[in-house]
Amino acid sequence: MMFVPKGSLSFIPFVNRYLSDVEYFKNEIQRIIDHRARNKDSSSKDILSLLLDGAGNNLTQEKEDLAPLSHSELISNCFIMIVAGHETTARTLAFALYLLAKHPDIQRTAQDQIDTIGLNYDSLTHVTNIIKETLRLYPAAVAILRMTTQDIEFKGTKLNKGVYVLYMWYLAHIDDKYWDRALEFIPDRWTTDKRNHEFHYSPFGVGKRSCIGKKFSEIEMVVVLSMILKRYNIKFEKEPYDLDLMVNITLRSKNPIHLVFERRDEE
Ligand code: HEM
Repeated sequence: MMFVPKGSLSFIPFVNRYLSDVEYFKNEIQRIIDHRARNKDSSSKDILSLLLDGAGNNLTQEKEDLAPLSHSELISNCFIMIVAGHETTARTLAFALYLLAKHPDIQRTAQDQIDTIGLNYDSLTHVTNIIKETLRLYPAAVAILRMTTQDIEFKGTKLNKGVYVLYMWYLAHIDDKYWDRALEFIPDRWTTDKRNHEFHYSPFGVGKRSCIGKKFSEIEMVVVLSMILKRYNIKFEKEPYDLDLMVNITLRSKNPIHLVFERRDEE
């Protein structure tokens, strides 16, 4: 895995805009790696320490050729963990909390199930459905870019080899053609909806390069959201508000999402 080389995708305006951000991340990651290298006795076992084990002594650019994990692979893996793993999961959870503040009845139903069966994550169907429905209405990644590897014809349109194709699944996620009351937050729809949604619902992408962290993040989000709902009621500070959305690599709210976490034991 390599960073986008300058120039290769430069016709896409946002790629140019983010090259300096990528540089910032590379430097920050190197700083953290250097810090770990200086504090080898640290007993912390986390993903970074596993990657560092994989990289052996290969912690600097100069030792690039040393196997098994090259320096650029080490940095790239750290980068993807932050951007692909942390950012997407955090955004989805923020959207889920916002939707629950907006729908206190749905929040209450999920809390009732947690109170009844405990933090038994496999059985928390309401929280699982809330996450699925959040990813339908607010998919952290809205689209993906692919390049054609051969000349093809797709629904009457001829595409030459080497053409970039943007597949924006967000449009299918909110299309009335595929969903009943498409714009409404209805987690319960997932109790009965057994359709194969590969191209109507693909928040983790489709095909061979779909998200490698899908299962991990699904479990992580159910665990975190359940723990929050067990302890807190999520509310708006004042009146409910609508989100002003923008895409900045991930889908996000233009403004901070302000919510109040009220302890349930103080109810
Ligand atoms: C809500 C959480 C997440 C969402 C919505 C999400 C979404 C996506 C999407 C849409 C793709 C591109 C799929 C494609 O090209 O067809 C992707 C790829 C990827 N994701 Fe995630 N992701 C999430 C969490 C995670 C986590 C937790 C990790 C790692 C711990 C992760 C690691 C990756 C990696 C490494 C790829 C690249 C896979 C490849 O190119 O073969 N993701 N993700």
